[in-house]
Amino acid sequence: MFHVQTGEFADKPARYADLLLQLDGLLGTERDGLANLANAAALLAELLPALNWVGFYLVRDGALRLGPFQGRVACVHIALGRGVCGTAAAQRQTIVVPDVHAFPGHIACDAASRAEVVVPLLAGERLLGVLDLDSPQPGRFDADDARGLDAVAQLLVARSDWTRLAD
Ligand code: SME
Repeated sequence: MFHVQTGEFADKPARYADLLLQLDGLLGTERDGLANLANAAALLAELLPALNWVGFYLVRDGALRLGPFQGRVACVHIALGRGVCGTAAAQRQTIVVPDVHAFPGHIACDAASRAEVVVPLLAGERLLGVLDLDSPQPGRFDADDARGLDAVAQLLVARSDWTRLAD
């Protein structure tokens, strides 16, 4: 049984360094992609404050499709280029949105969401999906979150088998 350790941190980099170590321990030698994404969503939801949604969309049949998540029910299909998730996927770049009301085309799954960050999951040139986090707190995410979550995405990509999970 893996015990998640919660704690206080001096700053965001310290929090993400701890989170990454716990994710590394949680994944262990498991390579099942679906299981790893499900546990990663639960770990992020437990360790990162002020979130109302965290989870994954996976590239399937050329579009983003809902994957493992924690939070309220969400839209299932997102076309590449649509919303924050589809834009981050199409551009293959992390997008930090301090105020979702100011992002043209933002897809509102939960009306409580006010800030969002989306990180692409990339295995070299191959786009596997995105990691998406929402917060009810405007300005919740910044460059430290982008860096920390990028490291989370890279660890998940490297340590999981993506056969049958993504195009
Ligand atoms: N807000 C996202 C849609 C996904 S939900 O936040 C879970 C977007 O604009 O792409």
